[in-house]
Amino acid sequence: MLIKRSPNGIEIPFSSEITPKHIFESRRNFIKQIAAGSIASGALLEMATRQALAQNVRQKLVGKPNLAYVVMDRQSAYKDATTYNNFYEFGTDKADPAKYAGGLKTRPWSIAIEGEVKKPMTLDLDSLMKLAPLEERIYRLRCVEGWSMVIPWIGYSLSALIKKVEPTSKAKFIEFVTLADPKQMPGLRSSVLSWPYVEGLRMDEANHPLALLTFGMYGEVLPHQNGAPVRVVLPWKYGFKSAKSIVKIRFVQEQPKTAWNLAAAQEYGFYSNVNPAVDHPRWSQASERRIGEDGFLTKKRKTLMFNGYNEVASLYAGMDLKKFF
Ligand code: MTE
Repeated sequence: MLIKRSPNGIEIPFSSEITPKHIFESRRNFIKQIAAGSIASGALLEMATRQALAQNVRQKLVGKPNLAYVVMDRQSAYKDATTYNNFYEFGTDKADPAKYAGGLKTRPWSIAIEGEVKKPMTLDLDSLMKLAPLEERIYRLRCVEGWSMVIPWIGYSLSALIKKVEPTSKAKFIEFVTLADPKQMPGLRSSVLSWPYVEGLRMDEANHPLALLTFGMYGEVLPHQNGAPVRVVLPWKYGFKSAKSIVKIRFVQEQPKTAWNLAAAQEYGFYSNVNPAVDHPRWSQASERRIGEDGFLTKKRKTLMFNGYNEVASLYAGMDLKKFF
């Protein structure tokens, strides 16, 4: 690193030498504009936020702990939760999302809410985040591939948003459409799935208080690889139902055609409730490997019906869950 000597002899590294050039220059312009008074103080915070997000800098986000939704298992390590991911828009390897999602532009961001609602609307991220108090909830998430993690998420029940847009009596299902931007997402070059990634729920499932509209994890805004800036987390279902980087929510009459169901209907059903009694054709669902506990002699954990979230059982009363897997 080049060192510049100041007139009083103290050695000071130039910030342009310890900071990448484009970031240094944008900061310098920013400071000049503040000095010239051309940026109002209210706009300062927003600009700083945008700059930080554009650089995928970790940012605090506070949610009030909701003790009704806390699993007692040990939390997964932040490093595991942010480097072992499925986000196929950035590649199919578990390490790809952390490597390639850094540049995802998460602001400005808006979600369009359409279809069978009395109040269709487009909400920007800030308005969406203010719709209900943010809570922290510690959920187990079980992937169909046979692993699980325990993560402290920050968000609020999806039902708060549903209430605001007033679904009509024709709304039977809800569909999540996620970002598909080939300029930002190298994984879209692959035809492993049909893009955009789409997921869906029946209306009563979407209204269950466990269904979390999620903006953060571990006391911070969502890292890009975990579905920034907004995703859902549905802890009683296999992880792939928890759609990341949502841009549109549609209220529809028919069961949505979901990305994984379209790719392999015999492997991925619409419901995809965690069910140890119904194996996936390639992976047993009877037990799971908790990421971070995978020592040589560590025993697998038994997978629990609905991932242990028995409060959802009544949603499926009378349904044959082998048929509707
Ligand atoms: N959402 C989008 N848009 N694209 C994806 O590839 N993968 C799903 C789900 N949501 C996926 C997605 C799968 S298979 C899983 S297991 C979870 O995200 C993983 O979430 P996590 O990386 O935060 O643990």
